[in-house]
Amino acid sequence: MYSEKVMDHFMHPRNVGEIENASGVGTVGNAKCGDIMKVYLQIEDGIIKDAKFKTFGCGAAVATSSMATELVIGKTIEEALKITNKSVAEALDGLPPVKMHCSLLAEESLHAALWDYAQKNNITIEGLKKPVEDVHDHDHDLEEDEEGIN
Ligand code: FES
Repeated sequence: MYSEKVMDHFMHPRNVGEIENASGVGTVGNAKCGDIMKVYLQIEDGIIKDAKFKTFGCGAAVATSSMATELVIGKTIEEALKITNKSVAEALDGLPPVKMHCSLLAEESLHAALWDYAQKNNITIEGLKKPVEDVHDHDHDLEEDEEGIN
């Protein structure tokens, strides 16, 4: 059911933890499944130097947050914004359709951390929308139906 990459990132997640005095921190949950993800970003001169995460959630949520932090390190803010839940899932060689919503937590918590960074620095990041606290309230283009959430 899960790709080898998903299993690898679930069993050996990269970048677990916190960043002290992070440039931006974002927390997003999914009220339906109860899972929560927190992302910390260290940003210097517009480049994401480091990323860490804590996920209280399912295996797919752990694997996607691990992959999302790997993808985002070394990127500019603009490049980071292009990381979507679909690109994270693709980097993991796919997720079962019923687990696509888990990857949304990674995308949204990343955006929430960037939003926090923008707020702290009084800047506007073009293309960044105000983050949601609960991805389930978010009208997102997911490749799944409602049944997949449970
Ligand atoms: Fe909740 Fe995966 S994030 S089931």
